[in-house]
Amino acid sequence: MATERTFSIIKPDATRRNLTGKINAVLEAAGLRIVAQKRIQMTQAQAESFYGVHAARPFFRDLVSFMISGPVVVQVLEGDNAVARNRDVMGATNPSSAAEGTIRKLFAENIEANSVHGSDSAENAATEMAFFFAATEIVG
Ligand code: CMP
Repeated sequence: MATERTFSIIKPDATRRNLTGKINAVLEAAGLRIVAQKRIQMTQAQAESFYGVHAARPFFRDLVSFMISGPVVVQVLEGDNAVARNRDVMGATNPSSAAEGTIRKLFAENIEANSVHGSDSAENAATEMAFFFAATEIVG
């Protein structure tokens, strides 16, 4: 498998509960390297733009409010098959369906406050990491 990069967010429900280190430990144990990371307060405009693909969904307003309700940690993860690997270690969107040992099974509160976001394709990963990071901030 080729080395790949993906984009990740540790969401406000997790930063509020001081879980950044615990989540990073799960990511690293899964073979992902954190090659960029910063803690930020997303603006409403950033959250609306980042989740623009979901603008027509009934949960969009609540999702934007949640994502700006506290700090998030945005990250670039690197590793073999990183997009799929991160999706596997995150677990299903709804924690009640997530497999044992996944981040969402371990930590998520509900389908909205689900602790982490991860890109769903290499193409979206490239777009999403460029949304938050300059190329010079990503150090492999
Ligand atoms: P994420 O991977 O960040 O992508 C979109 C987010 O919308 C998702 O995780 C959830 O946090 C949130 N969300 C809230 N309600 C729903 C829902 N009914 N279906 C899918 N995603 C939802």
